[in-house]
Amino acid sequence: MRILIVLAHPEKKSFNAHLAEITRQSWMERGHEVTVLDLYTEDFDPREGSWHYEHRQDADKFDPMQEQRHHWQRQQLPPTTQRHINLLLQADALILHFPFWWFGAPAILKGWMDRVFVYGGLYQSSKRHQNGVMRGKRALLVSTAGASAQACAPNGRDGDMRLLLWPVMYSLHYIGFEVLEPHLIHGVRGGLFADQAEQQRDELKRAVGDYQAKIQQWGDWPLVSFNRDEDFTESQVLKPQAPVHSPFVRHCES
Ligand SMILES: Cc1cc2nc3c(=O)[nH]c(=O)nc-3n(C[C@H](O)[C@H](O)[C@H](O)COP(=O)(O)O)c2cc1C
Repeated sequence: MRILIVLAHPEKKSFNAHLAEITRQSWMERGHEVTVLDLYTEDFDPREGSWHYEHRQDADKFDPMQEQRHHWQRQQLPPTTQRHINLLLQADALILHFPFWWFGAPAILKGWMDRVFVYGGLYQSSKRHQNGVMRGKRALLVSTAGASAQACAPNGRDGDMRLLLWPVMYSLHYIGFEVLEPHLIHGVRGGLFADQAEQQRDELKRAVGDYQAKIQQWGDWPLVSFNRDEDFTESQVLKPQAPVHSPFVRHCES
């Protein structure tokens, strides 16, 4: 298999970078082809903007979607965007490694999606969800939070971390990926002293071991369920008997 790892962390000695390395080694040892896209090392510009587009369809007003499609169709996308798209198209699996920042993904990862998941190329109305360009490929989110597992639980103070990552998971599904249940590690933070620091070291060592074991069982990894296109009416409303997979898409009274 071809594995694409995307790392969104500014520090090479971080826990997230360590996890990304664990992922790389784990797949390499089993004879797979692995590419690591380290967004900070590449100095990836997460801002979608007119300056990326040299052959504008409309030089007067910048419309990101239209320019993305125009440049895709003419094979004139910015070289970085095109290279990242090629890596996505070649990969069988995508694994995103990132810390949980302000209840979501770091800006560099959000911006990567803004710029790389181009309209007309990676999605359009006839190519999305189960008919998406990335169908048949799998994607996994591996993320760490400073807060405890209890605080990040559905009834926890900070809210359900899995659901807070739903927009990232749904975006991957939108372009066709099968999305695996995210692997979340909690209580990852610096600034601890003596006993607490030692306890955290032990906990994180255990967490790495658990992750290493789990990634060996890739084929058994549970999938996130999303609604299928047939679950919606022509006006894109959930049909009365359709299943519900998240509080973001639910049945309403009227
Ligand atoms: C800008 C920023 C925002 C953060 N927001 C959150 C947050 O919303 N929830 C949380 O639990 N931890 C938050 N944290 C803590 C990070 O999740 C934590 O530092 C990280 O997971 C540790 O992994 P690392 O060692 O790889 O950086 C935040 C940290 C930073 C720097």
